Amino acid sequence: MQTKRKILVTSALPYANGSIHLGHLVEYIQTDIWVRFQRMIGNECYYMCADDTHGTPIMISARKNGITPEELITRMHSEHLRDFNAFRISFDNYYSTNSPENRQFCEYVYLEAKKKGAIYEKEIEQYYCEHDAMFLPDRMIKGSCPVCKAADQYGDNCEVCSATYDPTELILPYCAVCSSKPVIKKATHYYFKLSEFAGELKKWVSEEHVRPEIKNKLKEWFEQGIKDWDISRDAPYFGFKIPGTADKYFYVWLDAPIGYIATTKNWCEKEGRNFDEIWKSNVFEIHHFIGKDILYFHTLFWPAMLMVSGFSTPTKINVHGFLTINGEKMSKSRGTFLNASDYLKVFDPEFLRFYYAAKLGPGVDDIDLNFNDFVLRINSDVLGKVVNIGSRIGAIVNKKFYNRLGEIDDQGEVILDKIRKVLPKIAEAYETLQFNKMIREIMPFADMLNKYINDTAPWELVKTDAKKAKEICTAALNGLYILSGMLKPVLPRISEGVEKFLGVSLINWEALARRITNHKINTYERLAERIDPAAIDKLIVSQKK
Ligand code: MSP
Ligand code: ZN
Repeated sequence: MQTKRKILVTSALPYANGSIHLGHLVEYIQTDIWVRFQRMIGNECYYMCADDTHGTPIMISARKNGITPEELITRMHSEHLRDFNAFRISFDNYYSTNSPENRQFCEYVYLEAKKKGAIYEKEIEQYYCEHDAMFLPDRMIKGSCPVCKAADQYGDNCEVCSATYDPTELILPYCAVCSSKPVIKKATHYYFKLSEFAGELKKWVSEEHVRPEIKNKLKEWFEQGIKDWDISRDAPYFGFKIPGTADKYFYVWLDAPIGYIATTKNWCEKEGRNFDEIWKSNVFEIHHFIGKDILYFHTLFWPAMLMVSGFSTPTKINVHGFLTINGEKMSKSRGTFLNASDYLKVFDPEFLRFYYAAKLGPGVDDIDLNFNDFVLRINSDVLGKVVNIGSRIGAIVNKKFYNRLGEIDDQGEVILDKIRKVLPKIAEAYETLQFNKMIREIMPFADMLNKYINDTAPWELVKTDAKKAKEICTAALNGLYILSGMLKPVLPRISEGVEKFLGVSLINWEALARRITNHKINTYERLAERIDPAAIDKLIVSQKK
């Protein structure tokens, strides 16, 4: 057997000013499946995440709700955790970037960077709203696009013509909060000399930390030139104050990724683990999962911050695409901007895990959730092919064989052998994030088992040849055992139901190849319910605004 790997895994930290929606879940489900697989093959794997709590939008959203930012983030933290638990996202620690550990690490990284001459001050001009008494970041200012003249565009880019520009170029700018006309004001900002890291970053990128298509994207960025990075924001700002300044705060994108480290530290303290082994040595691999929209932060800013402060750089950055629903961007007016909690009112969380797995590959392609396809797929694959084996055969074994399994007949053994042989291939597909391929590989074996059950009809055979019927049922339930074992990272709840039913454990990948014969099982309890297609309308209509 291969030596045990030690792996730290993260998903991006969701913003604390919004609910978890089905788009977010692509990432948390993808990560969780990978993490659960790693644990199942015996690697030491820990999964860290937290709420991303700082920044202007959170400050403004709290203000609008008449509460403090702290109250807002406390409320959202429990809401996020509730949703993640419902989808069985198996974090080892779910923390917050507004933590003492995070403040300490942010200051540390900053002071290390400063010590190494990687920080400088620069005076810049920025829009300032006198009514709200604040500088207006790109997304807090609107106006007409300087290129196509479209009205009501944000300060950084135009959604009509896609042009990017400086907020000071907007025509007739106005404050996005109060609509008043902003003034230009000078302010000193702190910059991180990212440009000086271009060489080191290029080298890092050339190693196998990202997939080829991401390397190409990065090559484009390197060719355009790496600009220094403004890491400071002016008060009022909800975040950490920069040491040695009166009213400057760390930009949220500095403190957010450092949250990965702070969350690990918090967990190490609680669990008595060795922090340095994880973030300050090569003992642990570090794997980040992110969406394609936050690539720049994770592949340029983040490694540079780690390099300057002496922490381990990422082993892998896995980047996924965006979710579309019924072929289009999630939209409130179409009723498809669905939160995790909306989905949970209508469907079983296991089903979304399965559907996303069936769609997800290792690349950045967007994935589509088509609800008609979803219903067909879940009813046919999860219910019709997997769960069905348990319900049909369970009833016979429970009633006719006093819950006892016997031997396995020859024909059954041939099928089971074929399934066992595919285990390494399935493991490889999990490892390389080819979940769609993994599901495609597994399903024909479920078909094979169902055909075997239909052809041999043990419910008939039991009347004339009980011994043979018992052998067939034993083979079928061995098939269910391997299938639900292979699918356990995807379908943890259903697989736990199978464990209970069969009186076996499915926590170890290698053990999936074993035979379960002459063994006592338990009464079959329903593992999942078929979806009624009418439920889709119920979900979508209730959302239309
Ligand atoms: N707070 C930042 C991440 C900081 S990480 C140090 C952030 N938060 S987010 O809530 O907007 O997004 C969290 C993750 O969910 C990101 O990786 C993002 O790409 C992903 N997704 C958000 N919407 C998504 C879809 N519609 N589809 C797929 N993934 C999406 O970014
Ligand atoms: Zn204003």
